[in-house]
Amino acid sequence: MTRLASNRTTKEPDLTATFRRKLIRWFATHRRDLPWRRYVSPYSVWISEIMLQQTVVKTVIPFFERWLGRFPDIAAIASADEREVLTLWEGLGYYGRARNILRSARLIVQQHGGRLPDSYNTLRELPGIGECTAAAIMSLAFGKSYPVVDANARRVVSRILALRGLDRPLEEQVKTFLGQAMPPRKAGQFNEAIMELGQTVCLSRGPLCESCPLKTLCFAFRKNLQDQIPSKTASSTIQKRSILLLLISDGRIMARRKESGIFAGLWLLPTIPDNGRTKTAISTFIGRDFKAEISPLPALELRTHHYTRYAHRLKPIVYDVTGKGVRPADGWRWLRLAEIYSYPFPSAYRRILDELRVAQR
Ligand code: ADE
Repeated sequence: MTRLASNRTTKEPDLTATFRRKLIRWFATHRRDLPWRRYVSPYSVWISEIMLQQTVVKTVIPFFERWLGRFPDIAAIASADEREVLTLWEGLGYYGRARNILRSARLIVQQHGGRLPDSYNTLRELPGIGECTAAAIMSLAFGKSYPVVDANARRVVSRILALRGLDRPLEEQVKTFLGQAMPPRKAGQFNEAIMELGQTVCLSRGPLCESCPLKTLCFAFRKNLQDQIPSKTASSTIQKRSILLLLISDGRIMARRKESGIFAGLWLLPTIPDNGRTKTAISTFIGRDFKAEISPLPALELRTHHYTRYAHRLKPIVYDVTGKGVRPADGWRWLRLAEIYSYPFPSAYRRILDELRVAQR
């Protein structure tokens, strides 16, 4: 359950008005110059908001600029080739987002005359647009009063009101507060200001309370509770351990295009459980009649990739495989190493392929 650590309520008369005034004034002087803020169109807002899902601003900047350079409008993306889209997205992760942009762009062209809909409910029907993104588009692109309740807004408001809790009632309280505080004609600015404050001042660890424009209003700060609010989620990281097989044969590497799941449309390399039975496992990819030579490539070290819900420890090993009947098992293909850049790979694999290329020079 959500509870207030104070007797403060969202109905307190001056609180929302003071919050709004201080926040907007602060944003006027602290607003970062970000590429999606220079020229604002519904299309650029949509693309930036999708890229900013689960990804920090600094990472998004070069991807956003490259994307707008290559696909300047909805028509350009609607007629794009999936492989090119995924290659451009390489390094941003969560590739479902790129596939959803492509699907949405095609739907927008077919059903909405090529223009991004300016209705919250219609936006929500497009693939990849959830509550937060729809609210951001409605406010930033169309000036409509929809509060964005993302992790930043939740953290800022939870601290201001000293709210504890993680669940749905907390979400509703935050939304109600933001709805009351939101200025009717500056909805977009207000939403961006909260996200900006959450990203640069009201940090989840080590908030910079002394420089916060809202510190006099903040109940968590007054009670020195900013490190306990918001409550932390229990970490449930699952560890997976695999060997990544870089099977090389005559200037080619074995890979497979994934057809479904989070990596659909991307190319993957073979992985096997890290349990010591490597040779048997290799034979499932290329048949039994092979000679494998392990290439000593010290650059390829053990590494752990962290995803939202699990960590994946990968041990890349390069095998030079030759033999009479060496041919890929169903679904697997030999890709020429010289052409590997025209195939989209998850960025964890791409980094390994880069190292492989350097090591093989
Ligand atoms: N995170 C999500 N949307 C954002 C925006 N418009 N500006 C900065 N950070 C964001």
